[in-house]
Amino acid sequence: MKVIALSGSLRAASINSALLRAAARLAPQDMRIEVFRGLGDLPLFNIDLEAAVPPSVAALRAAVGGADALLIASPEYAHGVSGVMKNALDWLVSLESFINKPVALLNAQPRAYFSDAALRETLKTMSAVVVESASVSIQLTADTLTEEGMLASPPVTQAILAALLDLRAAVLGGGGQGPLFPVR
Ligand SMILES: Cc1cc2nc3c(=O)[nH]c(=O)nc-3n(C[C@H](O)[C@H](O)[C@H](O)COP(=O)(O)O)c2cc1C
Repeated sequence: MKVIALSGSLRAASINSALLRAAARLAPQDMRIEVFRGLGDLPLFNIDLEAAVPPSVAALRAAVGGADALLIASPEYAHGVSGVMKNALDWLVSLESFINKPVALLNAQPRAYFSDAALRETLKTMSAVVVESASVSIQLTADTLTEEGMLASPPVTQAILAALLDLRAAVLGGGGQGPLFPVR
């Protein structure tokens, strides 16, 4: 199963991006997580560009359209979703295959509940399926703000892996039931 990971931060030392890279390295063998690196190349959303979307937008849509699920981690800025993430989601509103797309939200800042709630609202409005059991806040400490620090921390790796396994179960189906979502 293929998962596209989207970070709402462009910062080189981003905690959210580090969390997604750590998740990619922890993913079980049958789950390939690709961290999409092109969100900073997207123009600001402008519906006038829909007639001939820029290559950066086409690349995002192709990546998301070809994924069985999304993994999102995004910072909160002034109690809102980062502009980087909201801009990316605005470009995905018209993507038909976004409908019923399973999404797991990793929140690297448990205090950041405004942006977490806003992201859920946006994703639900876009008809994605937020997989609640796979959407978790991960408590980070000074030692676990980097990818290597996260991977060296049993509580952090356990929390990430548990979220990934719940996302996988939601996509592939578990307990002898059939898949809950179509698998490509
Ligand atoms: C302009 C600005 C506004 C912020 N506003 C909030 C906020 O409202 N709530 C919060 O929990 N953190 C806030 N933060 C802290 C960031 O979310 C935090 O630094 C986070 O680590 C950034 O994500 P990143 O490490 O992935 O870049 C803010 C940071 C900046 C620079």
